[in-house]
Amino acid sequence: MPAFMEPFRIKAVEPIPFPTAAERRRALGDAGFNLFRVPARAITIDLLTDSGTSAMSSAQWAALLDGDESYAGARSYERFEAVVRELTGYEQVIPVHQGRAAERILLGRLLRPGDVSVANTHFDTTRASVEAAGATAVDLPSEEPAPAPFGGDISVPALRRLLEGPDGAGVRCVVLTVTNNAGGGQPVSLDNVAAARELCTAHGVALLLDASRFAENAYLITERDPAHAGRAPRDVAREVFALADGCWASLKKDGIANIGGLIALRDPELARRCRDHLIAVEGFPTYGGLAGRDLDALAQGLREVTEPAYLRYRAQTARWFGDRLAEAGLPVLQPTGCHAVYVDAAQLLPHVPAHQFPATALANELYLAGAVRVTELGTLVFGRPDPAGGDDLPAPRELVRFCLPRRVYTKSHLEYVAETAATVVAKAAEIPGYRVVEQTGSLRHFTAVLAPTSPRGPAGPGEPPPRARTNGPPAPR
Ligand code: F0G
Repeated sequence: MPAFMEPFRIKAVEPIPFPTAAERRRALGDAGFNLFRVPARAITIDLLTDSGTSAMSSAQWAALLDGDESYAGARSYERFEAVVRELTGYEQVIPVHQGRAAERILLGRLLRPGDVSVANTHFDTTRASVEAAGATAVDLPSEEPAPAPFGGDISVPALRRLLEGPDGAGVRCVVLTVTNNAGGGQPVSLDNVAAARELCTAHGVALLLDASRFAENAYLITERDPAHAGRAPRDVAREVFALADGCWASLKKDGIANIGGLIALRDPELARRCRDHLIAVEGFPTYGGLAGRDLDALAQGLREVTEPAYLRYRAQTARWFGDRLAEAGLPVLQPTGCHAVYVDAAQLLPHVPAHQFPATALANELYLAGAVRVTELGTLVFGRPDPAGGDDLPAPRELVRFCLPRRVYTKSHLEYVAETAATVVAKAAEIPGYRVVEQTGSLRHFTAVLAPTSPRGPAGPGEPPPRARTNGPPAPR
């Protein structure tokens, strides 16, 4: 018996590019050493994100043809609304084109300047929306030592202290990001959601979910909490939604579609304000910046995503892939979740200080070695330029995320990534750090231009042609 196998077969395929070592060096240099700027045509295996990168099922493709493109009151909206209501129990269902639109609309209506939003961890776009509303985002991640089974939890003692302390009156909402993407993709337990609910009720504060990966969170609850073993993930998800006042989600994740998002709420008055604003920035409230066909694909995706065989495969893939990366010598964060495997770049590259972006250094090296694209979740994303002009203020951790697009890559694709990782580990001591040449805004990692801090050793893949010194032989792939 294999450890796991894909619970689907493939009926449409897309060729993948195999750039040479010279093409990879050129592509990375031309991109200012920022993988977000590398064109997809120069990527062999793209693990940058699980967002909008899913393969849709034949049932979803079929649903597209049923799309009702009426401007107002389309049947596609009714189908989407029915599925979201059945899943979440929230009456007010507002589609948007993606998660950050939901955050901007909802948090912009809920928060006032000077308010506080507290979360297990705000994702970067969530934090940006909180700050755009003039409010402050406070992260209170679990104090449990890793590897806690529910490393995504919010710290209940810290939340209680904040709510009962002098700053408690300023707290407008508590946000639970399920699963906690920025916090290592770890799940939030049902007990933690219930404890947050109790505190929110006692203090008159709204409890909201960033439900972008609600199904994976529900599945991990059934795997890790013996009290919920064997339960249907959809029932667990419903129980989590029932504890909160509302949610938003990027449906580019657990909607298993390429675009989409939602706001779903109990409070009709808050929903009315969101709809009023939505009309100005997204579109009519029954399509919210999406095509009718997108809503149909999402409605079908939201049914498929809680299938136990699919979710088991997601968790098993991450576990198996994490083990392969660990065998290759990467310091893998355990336990793995579902949507990604996280690696501690600081541990692999102790010679690269935080302000020289060790996570970026590792990510870039994986690209140079095998055109594998992963995400840096370290000081470039979560650190800040020092207002006094010194070294960047470091992020708490220097993580690299190997994301797993849904139903896209097979085991042999992931084996290739593990083999590529092994070639990088073999020359870890020669991997240079980076410095920022250009950056703007609070989401600088998407556009920043970087440069290596030092020329590479003779065995490394070397600099791109214009700046090339004596490059070593091409990388093994
Ligand atoms: N919330 C979470 C937890 C997310 O992971 C993301 C996006 C968003 C909100 C924003 O949603 O992209 O649809 O606007 N995460 C992507 C990622 C970008 O790669 O993890 P969006």
